[in-house]
Amino acid sequence: MSAEYLKEHINDRFSLVHAGNGDVSVFADDVIAGLRSKPKQISPKYFYDDKGSELFEKICTTPEYYVTRTEASILKEHSREIADANSDKSLVVELGSGSSIKTRYILNAFIKNTTPVTYVPIDVSQILVQSGNALLREFEGLLVNGIIGEYEHALEIVSQVYKQPKIILFLGSSIGNFDLKYAEEFLKKISACTNKGDSLLIGFDLVKDENILNAAYNDNEGVTAEFNLNLIRRINNEFGVQIDENNFEHTAFFNPQKSRIEMHLISKCDQSFCLNGSGEISFRKNETIHTENSYKFTGEMIKALAESAGLSIQNSWKDKNNYFELCLMGK
Ligand SMILES: C[S@@+](CC[C@H](N)C(=O)[O-])C[C@H]1O[C@@H](n2cnc3c(N)ncnc32)[C@H](O)[C@@H]1O
Repeated sequence: MSAEYLKEHINDRFSLVHAGNGDVSVFADDVIAGLRSKPKQISPKYFYDDKGSELFEKICTTPEYYVTRTEASILKEHSREIADANSDKSLVVELGSGSSIKTRYILNAFIKNTTPVTYVPIDVSQILVQSGNALLREFEGLLVNGIIGEYEHALEIVSQVYKQPKIILFLGSSIGNFDLKYAEEFLKKISACTNKGDSLLIGFDLVKDENILNAAYNDNEGVTAEFNLNLIRRINNEFGVQIDENNFEHTAFFNPQKSRIEMHLISKCDQSFCLNGSGEISFRKNETIHTENSYKFTGEMIKALAESAGLSIQNSWKDKNNYFELCLMGK
């Protein structure tokens, strides 16, 4: 393992690798560059400070956000079958693991086939420490080797460190946060870190009625709006500035031409501020910061993505409403 990775031994069953990208200066440089670009944009990975991760968990429980409960219902029904199709594996890697709540279905099924199971959750958020500890209390036959860092660095570590057969999970339709070109590239990166016989389980949110999509990102309680606006709070905290979050407003809408939900922060007035000697960053009234895309997939889009990465779809499951599809892929 390269020296830039710091390994922390938490206890006999829990270790953490810090893959060195929670760096405040990287956040600062990326935010300044994003606010200087036209149109203004900030990567959705920056939503997930402690407060952002907490708000995301709250979004998952809103009645409008069907994504989590739908994927959970598919996992609940099919985890046994998925584990049996991967009975040679005791290594479960998860990209963007968050609270790992849905992952429990998979871990439970794998542990029934073999113990110990080594779980490698990967996330930029410190939420991983809490969720790792909770899993260890729940599952005696589990070892947790977490990686706090970005997907790409973490995948490099995974291919250097783990040589045994593995299944890689990428749930929550997080793949939809990449633009389609990068989603292809990303699948190629995952594919490069897998060997013949390894599996990849990916969740895809499907195209559906626009009203259902728009409601999911505009919940009545305003949790998604708070999640989006938390980015302004994070900028304030990390730069030590006081941008007035009331000068921004959440908006999210389905863009049918691009098959994606777009989330933006709209500037409610002309305003300007400086960040760490960045020079003046100015906004016109109604100018937006594009904060997230969530692509919605069709079967054809999923097939094309898999093919472009040299992966074949071995099995797939949908819920009864055809809202969500979980695909098991391999080389
Ligand atoms: C949409 S949430 C999904 C969480 C969980 N997988 C689920 O299905 O509910 C995305 C998760 O990925 C993490 N994340 C986002 N961008 C990341 C990146 N570039 N590298 C590593 N983790 C990332 C976030 O911290 C968050 O926990």
